[in-house]
Amino acid sequence: MDKFIVKGGNKLKGKVRVSGAKNSALALMPATLLNSGINRLENTPEVRDIITMMRLLSELGVESKFDDHIVSLDTSNITSQVAPYEHVKKMRASVYVLGPLLTRYGYAKVSMPGGCAWGPRPINLHLEAMKKLGAEIELDSGYIIAKSKKLHGARISFDISSVGATGNILMAAVLAKGSTHISNAAIEPEITQLSNYLVSMGARINGIGTQELEVEGVDELHSADIINISDRIEAGTLLIAGAMTRGQIQIECNQIENLNAILAKLEDSGAKISVGNNLVGLDASNLDYTAIDVTTGIFPAFPTDMQAQWTAYMSMAKGSSTVTDTIYNDRFKHVPELNRLGANIENVGNSAIITGVERLKGAIVMSTDLRASASLVLAGLAAEGTTEILRIYHLDRGYQRIEEKLKELGADIERVKTEEF
Ligand code: EPU
Repeated sequence: MDKFIVKGGNKLKGKVRVSGAKNSALALMPATLLNSGINRLENTPEVRDIITMMRLLSELGVESKFDDHIVSLDTSNITSQVAPYEHVKKMRASVYVLGPLLTRYGYAKVSMPGGCAWGPRPINLHLEAMKKLGAEIELDSGYIIAKSKKLHGARISFDISSVGATGNILMAAVLAKGSTHISNAAIEPEITQLSNYLVSMGARINGIGTQELEVEGVDELHSADIINISDRIEAGTLLIAGAMTRGQIQIECNQIENLNAILAKLEDSGAKISVGNNLVGLDASNLDYTAIDVTTGIFPAFPTDMQAQWTAYMSMAKGSSTVTDTIYNDRFKHVPELNRLGANIENVGNSAIITGVERLKGAIVMSTDLRASASLVLAGLAAEGTTEILRIYHLDRGYQRIEEKLKELGADIERVKTEEF
């Protein structure tokens, strides 16, 4: 198992390139099950979750290769429609194979994803919508067994905007008979990218990028290639690293408009932001460091996946702030760990009430989930002395060797092997 040793205090400086978006790639990869052929996904991040998805797809018969951030997926010889517990337990996004397998093969058996580090994350919306498309769904021994001779179009209105349910139903609907209308569809950039990818395979989708999607089913899809968007959460995390260390950094990434909510809040906090062609600059050398409240929400609001990092940032701001998560009620495992570093944060309901402190002080802390780990790295970079962050396998699920990017920017951070369990 690896840990990070961070010696805080270095002001970050320089330029780094943001990797491809994990959550977008995790939808694009299972989408290839809808066709038969070789699909190339460029700008795929080399992170644990992508490897898990490759292994799951291999289990289904997909031949996969990962070379220089290009994943090639050959879907010509699918041999199984069963997604076993072994893979699904590692990553909830595995449930994305349900829609494509069911619509293409009329059968899918997918392990139920369990709870996750910060509470239950149901998939009822996925299953109810699949039923509306004509699937018979049974839950048996921890597995979802979905069957249908041929899915048919339907009118679906999601009570809650869900990235995963929208993606799954979209993938099922593109090969269903007739038209499907999805209301209150998620409009996260990862869903827009998935929709565009499906269209490049031959799918017929109207309303892309809006909450109303209209899908006209087609008989078959062909293979396609795509260049993945940049990871907006990695981008935001790096920018906060620059701000917390009062640095001056630039990040290279595409679709900068996906960062608007994060950039606006950074500006409110006193950081200077400049935006160029695929480049975002942050100058925090004279940061006033104002405490700024944040409420997470569905896109284009501030993302829940940046909540922990913003909480770490606000822990050293002048004054008090409240960070409220409206997407997940109990995603606050980072709070006690940040407090071990000297932060003054109270978790009340779905909010973190933060009283800014002048300094954080290095300590040993524990990663509990992906974004919580990122918040600890940020705090460690700004803390006085040495911070050890244990169990960074959580971080490796979604950040491509973040320590290398931070080192490029001048951080003192090392990955070290440890015996700890
Ligand atoms: N929800 C339901 N029922 C469902 C599905 C969702 O009640 O059937 C609720 C969830 O409990 C949550 C809300 O709807 O309160 C939104 O969840 P959503 O379905 O949008 O989340 P997801 O698709 O499971 C993706 C990302 C998450 C990110 C959320 C929200 C992927 C692989 N994961 O999850 O990313 O937090 O959208 O933006 O795309 C991360 O990267 O750290 C991460 C957790």
